[in-house]
Amino acid sequence: MTEKEAILARHSVRKYTSKAIDADVAAKINEKVAEVNAESGLHFQFLNDEGGAYSNLFLKFSGLDSAPASIVCVGPDSADLEEKVGYYGEKIVLFLQTIGLNTCWVGSFSKKRSEAEVKEGEKNVISIAVGYGENEGKAHKSKSVDQLVDAKADSPEWFNEGVKAALLAPTALNQQKFVIRLKDDDTAEIVSKGGAFTSVDLGIVKYHFEVGSGRKL
Ligand SMILES: Cc1cc2nc3c(=O)[nH]c(=O)nc-3n(C[C@H](O)[C@H](O)[C@H](O)COP(=O)(O)O)c2cc1C
Repeated sequence: MTEKEAILARHSVRKYTSKAIDADVAAKINEKVAEVNAESGLHFQFLNDEGGAYSNLFLKFSGLDSAPASIVCVGPDSADLEEKVGYYGEKIVLFLQTIGLNTCWVGSFSKKRSEAEVKEGEKNVISIAVGYGENEGKAHKSKSVDQLVDAKADSPEWFNEGVKAALLAPTALNQQKFVIRLKDDDTAEIVSKGGAFTSVDLGIVKYHFEVGSGRKL
């Protein structure tokens, strides 16, 4: 499965089977996390923690505590930390999809119960539930292209492909609070309309756009 195919296949999954993540698969995930950390300067960690980070009441209700593992998204505090977490976290989410795992970004989780290592000057932004889903989730209801895109009618193919991938991106509460603009110099920009977790969302949406369009923003 390619990253583009993973974008089509991925949906948030909130109920997981009891199948544990075995040592070989865990090694692959740790390798990917190390690669992404080296590229980004972030401090993501893969915790095979049997849902420990998700066992507060609300998440039990949602079923997320059935996730056998999580990726904790920690990094050095900075103005662009949340956007970076979204961008590089989604890179890991799509990788996990290509190796047959399911995921869900989780803004509300128990930071206290999480075994994440958070060093001086670092922040634990969010986590991602990881496991083998009881199902593959389902396609989210999406805003229309007209609501999310600001571009001339005959926009180029690369831009349209980027938009398609961006509309499939997960966003907190499915809020899709962003605008994708095609500029006169034939480049694109994506801006956030602001609100809770919209910086993380922006990073996620930018990563999808880049994979879909084959161009860096
Ligand atoms: C930053 C962020 C935070 C999220 N937090 C939660 C959460 O706390 N609980 C939850 O059940 N889903 C959470 N989600 C998942 C979204 O609800 C989901 O991505 C959205 O409804 C779109 O559905 P899809 O991922 O299946 O495409 C979060 C998603 C993002 C991107």
